[in-house]
Formats: sequence, structure tokens, C-alpha cells
Amino acid sequence: MTLTQPRPLLDVDAELTLRAFDAEADLAEFFQVIEESLDHLRPWMPWVQEHSLARATAFLDSRVERWASGWEFTYAVVLDGAIVGSCGLHRYEDTEAGTLEIGYWLHPSATGRGVATRAARALTDEAFLLPDVDCVEIVHDAANHASGAVPARLGFTDTLRPSDPTAPRAPAETGEDRVWRLSR
Ligand SMILES: CC(C)(COP(=O)(O)OP(=O)(O)OC[C@H]1O[C@@H](n2cnc3c(N)ncnc32)[C@H](O)[C@@H]1OP(=O)(O)O)[C@@H](O)C(=O)NCCC(=O)NCCS
Repeated sequence: MTLTQPRPLLDVDAELTLRAFDAEADLAEFFQVIEESLDHLRPWMPWVQEHSLARATAFLDSRVERWASGWEFTYAVVLDGAIVGSCGLHRYEDTEAGTLEIGYWLHPSATGRGVATRAARALTDEAFLLPDVDCVEIVHDAANHASGAVPARLGFTDTLRPSDPTAPRAPAETGEDRVWRLSR
């Protein structure tokens, strides 16, 4: 199968679905999931410091346009019918052509069950259905071992590099990134 963009609905398995957000219908549930996850996300996710209802609303409102632009494909992580986090495929201006980066976060109650690993595997498979993608990356702070265990389980290989000194830094981040890559 050859695609120009990832599909908006990925049925990963019997309990896990990744689907594009519906800004209006998902706002209340998405906001509550973030609110309940703040302490768990704060160490690693710089945006948590700026979290508010207005920002969550603006984030969901911009998803359709970001998807259409080809830069950012954001999915709700839906486990047994409930949103438990978010993940996505992103292109960044400083990333090499042909590379898509995966990001993910989960509500703390959804961790420890392979949800992030299954989601990242599905996103990797989806990325490689795009003919212009030859490499998938997962980048996280070098101290974020839970995040790194995901690409390690999927056979990605890693290198270290200094993080962008101009990018906002979350409280537990060290300034060194681990970059995991898997080639087609
Ligand atoms: C990063 C994050 C999503 C990883 O979550 P996670 O629950 O550790 O990862 P998974 O969902 O893949 O689950 C892995 C665990 O499930 C277990 N597991 C159960 N079934 C599994 C399956 N089918 N496949 C893989 N692992 C499975 C694994 O053994 C592992 O258990 P362990 O934590 O006791 O070693 C989570 O820690 C998080 O939200 N962190 C805060 C936000 C963040 O840091 N995001 C990344 C920024 S770069």
C-alpha cells in the first residue's frame, strides 16, 4: 500500500486504537487526561509548564491544519474506548529529509502495559507506508529511560547528542538527547 499521508485511524489491536483528534468532541476528555497526568508528564514535557484549557483547546483546534500541512500527524491514544494519551508523527525543519519523528505520552494509569510500544510500532509501520520516508526517529532526554525502552524494544539503534540549547527544557531534562533511528 502506498500513501501520501498517514491514515487517521489505526486499529492497533483489540484494545488499542490510534485516531486523529476531533477538536470539539474530544476537548473535555483530553483536557481531563492531561490534568490527571500533569505530575507524571512535568519532568519530561516542557509544554506542561504552559498547560491551560486555552492551550489544550488551541492544540486540538490546530490538529487538522497541521495534519493537512504534512508537518504533524497527531493521534489520540484510545485504550478500551477511552483517551489515555497522545502520540504522533512529526517532521521538523532541522530533521533530515525522509525522516519522521515519533512522539508519545500516556496517562500514568495506562503505563506498564506496552501501550506506548504498540503505538510506536504501529506509527513506525505507518510511516514506512509513505514512499518519501526512509527513517523513523524517536528522540528523548538521555535520563528518560521509560521513553528509551520503547524504541529499544522495537529494534531502533541509538546515539547521543547535545539537545538544542534554545529549546524549552522540562525539569528533569539533562541537556543531552538520545536519538533512536530505524531505517526502512
Ligand atoms: C514514555 C512513556 C509513554 C512510556 O510508557 P511505558 O508504559 O513505560 O511504555 P509501554 O506502554 O510500552 O509499556 C512498557 C511496559 O509494559 C510492559 N508490557 C506489557 N505488555 C507489553 C507489550 N505487548 N509490548 C511491550 N511491552 C509490554 C513492558 O514489559 C514494560 O513494563 P515495565 O515498565 O515494567 O518494564 C511513559 O513513561 C510516559 O508517558 N512518560 C511521560 C511522558 C514522556 O516522557 N514521553 C516521552 C517524551 S520523549
